[in-house]
Amino acid sequence: MEDLSHYRRSYEKSELLESNIPEDPINLFHRWFHETEDFGGPNASGEEVNAMTVSTIGLDGFPKARVVLLKKYNEEGFIFYTNYNSEKGKAIEQNPHVCLSFFWHNTERQVIIKGIAEKTSEIISDNYFDSRPEGSKLGAVVSNQSEVIPSRDFLEENLKQLESEFESMVIPRPKHWGGYLVRPVEVEFWQGRANRLHDRIRYSVQEDYSWKKERLSP
Ligand SMILES: Cc1cc2nc3c(=O)[nH]c(=O)nc-3n(C[C@H](O)[C@H](O)[C@H](O)COP(=O)(O)O)c2cc1C
Repeated sequence: MEDLSHYRRSYEKSELLESNIPEDPINLFHRWFHETEDFGGPNASGEEVNAMTVSTIGLDGFPKARVVLLKKYNEEGFIFYTNYNSEKGKAIEQNPHVCLSFFWHNTERQVIIKGIAEKTSEIISDNYFDSRPEGSKLGAVVSNQSEVIPSRDFLEENLKQLESEFESMVIPRPKHWGGYLVRPVEVEFWQGRANRLHDRIRYSVQEDYSWKKERLSP
C-alpha cells in the first residue's frame, strides 16, 4: 500500500478574520473568487476558478459528487447547466438539497455551500444555450448524459448524423437540458493557516433572510 503520510503542506498565504468580512456571504464569495483568479498575476498557473463540486443524494441513497462549471452567481444563488435527465438531474428531482464546494489551491481556500436547487427559467436556459459554441450545443443534443452506451463510435456516429441534420440550422435547446439555480442556506469559508489552525467562518440564513456568522473550530 502506498504510504502518503509525508505529504504535508503548511498553509500560510492569508487569513479570514471577523473584522474584515461582509454581512453577506455572496460578497465574500465574490471577493475570494476574484482574489483567487488574480492570484500571482496573469502568468500564474491558471486555476479553473469556476469549477465546483456538486454533491447530491442519489436515488440509491448514496451521496455522489462531480465537478461542473459555475456559470453565474448573484444574491439569489449559484447557476450551473446540465442535463436534467442525468444521474444528478434525477437525484435533484427527488431531493433538491445539494452541496456545492470549491477548493482553490492558489489561495489555499475552500468554500462549501449547502443549498436548495431549482430549475432556472426557460429563458435563462435558452439564453445560455444560445451563447454556447455550435459544437457544445450539438454535444448537449447528442448526449443522453449518464446513460450506458455501447461505444465511443456510437456517440460519434450520432454526432455526424446530427451535424448533417442541423447543417446551417439553428440548434434548439433540448427541453431536458438547462440550468439549476442553487439558493444557499449555509456558506462556509475555510482559509488554510499555519499549524492546522485554519480559519472557518460559517454563514447561515435566518428566518428574516439575514445571515448569522459563526466561527468554527478547525
Ligand atoms: C472541469 C469539469 C467541468 C465540467 N462541467 C460540467 C458542466 O458544467 N455540466 C455538466 O453537466 N457536466 C460537467 N462536467 C462533467 C460532470 O463532472 C459529470 O461527469 C456529468 O455531469 C455527469 O454527471 P452525473 O452522471 O453524476 O449526472 C464537468 C467535468 C469537469 C471535470
